[in-house]
Amino acid sequence: MKVNLSDIKVLFSEEQIQSRIKELADEMNKFYNGEEVYVVCVLKGAVMYMTELVKHLNMPVHMEFIRLSSYGHSTVTSGKVNAVEIKLPDLNGKNVLLVEDIIDTGITAKFLTDFINTNFNVKSVKFTSLLDKKVFRKVDIDADFYGFEIDDKFVVGFGLDYDDVYRNLRFVGYADKSLLND
Ligand code: IMP
Ligand code: MG
Repeated sequence: MKVNLSDIKVLFSEEQIQSRIKELADEMNKFYNGEEVYVVCVLKGAVMYMTELVKHLNMPVHMEFIRLSSYGHSTVTSGKVNAVEIKLPDLNGKNVLLVEDIIDTGITAKFLTDFINTNFNVKSVKFTSLLDKKVFRKVDIDADFYGFEIDDKFVVGFGLDYDDVYRNLRFVGYADKSLLND
């Protein structure tokens, strides 16, 4: 571990994140117009975003959790998604909102959307991500609702990790590339 807390620079402050999440929730409240929604959080990274988001949603909300893995080591994507734990209720006829921390290559988003559509005949499936790193997209997919676009930085905090730590930070920050061991 070469990255220390003091090396992490703020990219989005706690205030910026909280106010953007409220805006996203407003958009979703309009979109769903009071209809029941099954919110599916992708563990572990999306947990902070999901818990903040649902506080501002005003329709009946279910909270579900799934666990996937795509990152082999530290900051490099393996390019494959492994379903580690997917236990979902019957989503036939339901509105499903998939919640991620960040879309990078898009492989996870594509895998999840396909997974839902293959296994269920849902009423709708939408994808939301707090962050969108569009520069590294390998798969043609976009979030229906996203918080902030970022460039090629590797970010941590507000759920996002580096070697499984720094998820607890209240802000989203980044460290210089030279400090990250790939
Ligand atoms: P994708 O399948 O390449 O879109 O990757 C999505 C996953 O990669 C996210 O859920 C994160 O776990 C991880 N990820 C991508 N970029 C970052 C980053 O900058 N910081 C921390 N995790 C990241
Ligand atoms: Mg993740």
